[in-house]
Amino acid sequence: MKQISVIGVGYVGLVTSACFSDLGNRVVALDIDADRISGLIDGKLPIYEPGLEELVARNVVANRLSFTTSYPEALAVADFVFIAVGTPSGVDGEADLQHVRSAAISIAKAMTKPVIVINKSTVPVGTGDWVAEIIRSHQPKPIDFSVVSNPEFLREGAAIGDFMNPSRIVLGSLDREAADRVAQLHFSLRSPIVICDLRTAEMIKYASNALLATKISFINEIANICEALGADVKEVAAGMGYDPRIGHSFLDAGLGFGGSCFPKDVMALAFMAEEQGRDSQLLQAVLDINTGQRLQIIEKTDQLLGGLKGKVIGLLGLTFKPNTDDLRDAPALEIAQRLIDRGAKVRAYDPVAMPRASELMPDIIMADDPYQLAEGCDAIIVCTEWNEFKQLDLERLRDTLKQPIVVDGRNIYDPDQMRQLGFRYRGMGRGYGRTQLAAQGEALERITGR
Ligand code: UDX
Repeated sequence: MKQISVIGVGYVGLVTSACFSDLGNRVVALDIDADRISGLIDGKLPIYEPGLEELVARNVVANRLSFTTSYPEALAVADFVFIAVGTPSGVDGEADLQHVRSAAISIAKAMTKPVIVINKSTVPVGTGDWVAEIIRSHQPKPIDFSVVSNPEFLREGAAIGDFMNPSRIVLGSLDREAADRVAQLHFSLRSPIVICDLRTAEMIKYASNALLATKISFINEIANICEALGADVKEVAAGMGYDPRIGHSFLDAGLGFGGSCFPKDVMALAFMAEEQGRDSQLLQAVLDINTGQRLQIIEKTDQLLGGLKGKVIGLLGLTFKPNTDDLRDAPALEIAQRLIDRGAKVRAYDPVAMPRASELMPDIIMADDPYQLAEGCDAIIVCTEWNEFKQLDLERLRDTLKQPIVVDGRNIYDPDQMRQLGFRYRGMGRGYGRTQLAAQGEALERITGR
């Protein structure tokens, strides 16, 4: 049993705390937000993540997991201290490190014995060295410590599975012995372990997220070209994905990426490049294409409706992706605001995020279910591909809508089926569709007399 403390009980910190305690370690999780901590002590989680509530409860009962707001308590016996605090984007796209800084200062002041400080938050390259310097300069008396960078690769909605079955563990440190000790913490996970220097580990995180974001913007650009040329991007992506050098994942065209990581990490990497006088053209294009997808869907809806003013639009899904309650940089919220700015009324339904969305955007009228959402709507826009939207009774939806218009920002429906059902349907890069192609074929036969 190792003694671990985790600073920050957001997505990364709470999942890390729950999983390490479930692996048999003793974990103290700390947050400076007293409401969050008292909620957790009462069994209330500040976030929704499948399986997390049970995992937390089980380990609290087993006395392996506890919560505190006190640094001295968290640091009393810890050998390993994980920093998992937020690093939001600053005004120019650079990462805002104020929470990392205050965590480092508090650790320095509270430590009474040697510890390994492990940074999980995504931080600009060079931050590990900076954290070490902050700790050193704020210690009341010198005590040994090492800093290790251990970037997280957890996907929201699948975070526990990702923690327990990682694709790789990256450990960066100038202190090889410290990196080896952190590696031992992860041995039971049986994953490849990459040990490198601090800056390289920090860069692996940015480069990984930037490439994934690039794949998404790439397929979105292809989708837009497909749409103009009459090809279907879903089939194009499927056909491409069989090449093992390309792969099937992250080739779903649609409204693009959102959430707390990709937009901020790509921006931060571009900012770092520019700060060093290096080009970031590709990263800039990735971001621009992503913004373009959100604007494009509004134009599609506008075209289908012949103007947005006075129209009622229903948003199906609000979160940035399914199986999370996270609304950070969710395309749906930006789309809602732009529709409202252009004179439309916006209604919405989301399985988990409506209470929080109402706080953020009180102008959106929330519905009880997708069919109630459709009542009085001129069009529906699919913003999040929640499973429960994939098997809707589409005839009921069509009959409830004021106009049978669906703009599918996540390509969850079959264009031919939607048209056969009488919808005016637009996906993202879905081409002409078989119905239209068959009609074109007949026309061609008539012209050529075949
Ligand atoms: C991501 C990374 O996957 C994870 O490794 C990292 O450490 C944190 O950021 P997450 O933000 O939870 O995780 O989301 P992810 O599942 O990766 O999806 C990111 C965004 O890309 C979502 O908005 C999703 O809708 C979008 N996406 C994903 C697409 O538009 N198309 C795809 O093919 C895949």
